[in-house]
Amino acid sequence: MTNRQSQPEFQSGEDFAIAMDERDPLKRYRQRFFFPKTANGDGVYLCGHSLGLQPKTAAKYIEQELQDWAELGVEGHFHAKNPWMPYHRLLTEQTAELVGAKPLEVVVMNSLTVNLHLMMVSFYRPTKERHKIVVERGAFPSDRYAVQSQIRFHDFDPATSLIELTPRPGEFCLRDEDIDSLIEHEGDDIALIMLGGVNYATGQAFDLARITRSGHARGCVVGFDLAHAAGNLQLKLHEWSADFAMWCSYKYLNGGPGCAAGCFVHERHSHAWALPRFAGWWGHDEETRFEMGPNFQPIPGADGWQLSNPSIVSLAVLRASMDIFHEAGMERLRAKSVTLTGYLEFLLSQNNSSNFSVITPHENERRGAQLSIQIPQNGRALCDRLAQEGIVGDWREPDTFRVAPVPLYNSYYDVFRFVRRFAAAIG
Ligand SMILES: Cc1ncc(COP(=O)(O)O)c(C=O)c1O
Repeated sequence: MTNRQSQPEFQSGEDFAIAMDERDPLKRYRQRFFFPKTANGDGVYLCGHSLGLQPKTAAKYIEQELQDWAELGVEGHFHAKNPWMPYHRLLTEQTAELVGAKPLEVVVMNSLTVNLHLMMVSFYRPTKERHKIVVERGAFPSDRYAVQSQIRFHDFDPATSLIELTPRPGEFCLRDEDIDSLIEHEGDDIALIMLGGVNYATGQAFDLARITRSGHARGCVVGFDLAHAAGNLQLKLHEWSADFAMWCSYKYLNGGPGCAAGCFVHERHSHAWALPRFAGWWGHDEETRFEMGPNFQPIPGADGWQLSNPSIVSLAVLRASMDIFHEAGMERLRAKSVTLTGYLEFLLSQNNSSNFSVITPHENERRGAQLSIQIPQNGRALCDRLAQEGIVGDWREPDTFRVAPVPLYNSYYDVFRFVRRFAAAIG
């Protein structure tokens, strides 16, 4: 996941932020999103790692579907402007482009934790010898619950079948060599490596190509939760050869709260009919789906893991956002993101307060947009106070204030104003 790009010489004055915004080739995209209203109109939204902003075009995309439903009723499945039967396919090309996959390898369906379970049904196949799952310590709770429950479902015990990759004492983030070493030493016992692309708490981005290589070399299946990576990092899932991945669409992808999630299944599994899978009619061969036959014949590729017909309204919003992503391009977005987050880190480093520290890795290739600021004393109250003033990041227990300048809609001036307010509050 290398992104070795040289940084401009950052400066601490306001005029630097203004000048950077002026020459930002992506600045016009900011106008395409709604920003939450604040009392004095000078809020800063740095929370796209939690819930992305609403594209101004979202309502138009939804209205099209509401209108077709009103005018056509059930006929909309086939005769809407964008027929609902194959509606999810409208997202396939752009989703594949976004995560570096082939169209056959991606689908938008369900929600993230549901997709994680569906993937583990197929790809976590524990045996007496090889039954362990590797997660990172501090993985998002839903991932942990899902993984633990899958282990129990197969009559194993998380106490002996769950391995947590743990940073060295006194460190917050994992070292690549420690991940390699664990896989090397315990590889024979590991059925599945299931890590986040970017850890939600520390903001650490993992080297997914390297982990996949190490895992496969030891015979492990490798899957990733890309909730904090999709729309944030440049991903090359096909090339990196991960077995599966899934991500939600409401963070960097701006699909709105609870929006349908993405899922990737590598091409080499596209015709793996012998793999167990939970089936539903939307994963059944489209040619014969409405023959209503008794036997399930999956669609080749990721589409074959679908269960139910999707919420068109949810997909409509995501289309509005994905059209913008397609236009802006992930490469350009990532290039801006590296500079924007570097600038945030620089401004924070100008502050000598010992009341906080940034725990996210410093290297560009080891992080995305997010910086996690550890505030050991009274951090939650500070975060709440800033939120009341319209300065929006979020708090994760026990001591982490997360902020992410999102390259699609945040400006350098946003970052400047955030740090000014943060510095005043932290004392
Ligand atoms: C890393 C990670 N995994 C899983 C989830 C759970 O997502 P969902 O509620 O869409 O299943 C989240 C939600 O924020 C997350 O950040």
